[in-house]
Amino acid sequence: MPHVNSSSQADTDGLTSSAIPLRPLYQLIIFWTLLILGFAAWDSYQFYLSQLTTAKAVARDNFNKDLVYRRWATMHGGVYVPITERTPPNPYLSHIPDRDITAPSGKSLTLMNPAYMTRQVHELAREQYDLRGHITSLKPIRPANVADAWETEALKAFESGASESMSQEMIDGESYIRFMKSMSVEEACLKCHASQGYKNGDVRGGISISVPWAPYRERVLSAIPGKATTFGIVWIVGVIGIVTGRRNLQHYLDERDRAEEEKLAMQQHLQNARKLESLGVLAGGLAHDFNNILATIIGYCGILKFRPEKVADSIPEIEKAAERAAELCRQMLAYAGKTQSVIMQVDMTTLVDEMVRLLKATIPQNTVIKVDLAADATMIQGDSEQLRQIVKNLIINASEAIGEAQGELRISLATTEIREGDPLRDYQGKFIAAGRYACLEVTDTGCGMDDEIRSKIFEPFYTTKFFGRGLGMPATLGIIAAHKGALQLFSQPGQGTTIKVYLPAA
Ligand code: HEC
Repeated sequence: MPHVNSSSQADTDGLTSSAIPLRPLYQLIIFWTLLILGFAAWDSYQFYLSQLTTAKAVARDNFNKDLVYRRWATMHGGVYVPITERTPPNPYLSHIPDRDITAPSGKSLTLMNPAYMTRQVHELAREQYDLRGHITSLKPIRPANVADAWETEALKAFESGASESMSQEMIDGESYIRFMKSMSVEEACLKCHASQGYKNGDVRGGISISVPWAPYRERVLSAIPGKATTFGIVWIVGVIGIVTGRRNLQHYLDERDRAEEEKLAMQQHLQNARKLESLGVLAGGLAHDFNNILATIIGYCGILKFRPEKVADSIPEIEKAAERAAELCRQMLAYAGKTQSVIMQVDMTTLVDEMVRLLKATIPQNTVIKVDLAADATMIQGDSEQLRQIVKNLIINASEAIGEAQGELRISLATTEIREGDPLRDYQGKFIAAGRYACLEVTDTGCGMDDEIRSKIFEPFYTTKFFGRGLGMPATLGIIAAHKGALQLFSQPGQGTTIKVYLPAA
């Protein structure tokens, strides 16, 4: 039913608000957490590596230093030092004639070879820094200089060409960075080592330096709280960013929804206003028409009161007026869909034929009527009275559209089949349901309609000069709807109008 329903309740229930689901938020936070954890792990690892590099550099530097002062001692062929409890004469130098000498002052001095000196320096370093140095050889002159397992491995590698060895090892349950480099026999070494059978260039042995890892590990561990704080702050900032970002987005979406709702409410409002307006037109139109009818009736009643002999002239006029009023009521009921229907098998062919014959008399002479009805009966289920009203309304409208001018009115009836997916739309643009239909087509060569008029002719009491007066078209629509049919409207200004009515075939 068009237009009559004046319900003003805004239908906004169908509007769904765009709530962002929580899942992606959690996923984003988890991703962010993993990313930060990844960065933290990578950063800590880099810091650990830098500490390892430092420890290794310390080991190498210590070795180089050992080598330098050893060379110094070798350069002098050993050096004389005072004999003390900690520095007794080296028994392995007993074959050297001047091993122990006495200074003119009476002070006793003994010759200190480079290895002896290195040993003593290493002892001091160990006491002071827990830095372990060890001069050693696979063939030690001094048994106490014997290589440990790791050193033996390294020395063997040196003999087969390697020049240094570095790794992290455990000594006495503590972790150390161990570094060892080979020492080759030079000319100056031969003075004391030639007797062992060494030649120039042989690997005499090596010095191993062991740097305790503990302080570096300490540094790595103590950096953790600081790093955890930094990364924690970055993580929190990120999470806050994600959460507020989501909230802002939600806010934006809410705003958008609200704007949409407002727009919809506005449209609803306008629509209601239009409904009210057309309701006003309807009431006004009805009042006007009834007023005219009643004026006629009252007028003739007045005549009858004073001139009873006029009864023969007046009664038919009063009857005609009452007839018009009854017709108006029928149209209104049809428009409102409130007609009491008597549904039965109706032969549309016969019905249309009868109506055309009946109406021919009322159509002006200038209009040529062409009728083309299907040969067979076209049966539908419906109320014959109402169906007659449709035919009548369409023919009268068409005739009025032609008006005084020369014109043609074509009426045809046929059975058509609308298949699923056929792009057939009704006057409102809705698809017409598939099925078999009786199709009544009324075409006039009248003035036609533009878009504006086309959209309005189904409103009650909307009138153009030539088309759609009173309740004719609205009532037609009401009846078609009650019969589950459809209506198509084709019209262009100056091109005439075609209306097709589809009624489901029985
Ligand atoms: C003044 C004599 C003397 C000279 C010169 C000398 N050494 Fe020795 N070196 C010794 C004696 C003695 C020992 C063993 C006792 C000790 O550890 O003091 C020794 C020990 C070593 C050791 C430790 C392993 C072991 O055999 O006990 C190495 C390695 C070594 N010397 C390498 C060299 C090299 C390389 C040179 C030359 C750059 C050199 N020495 C020059 C006398 C000398």
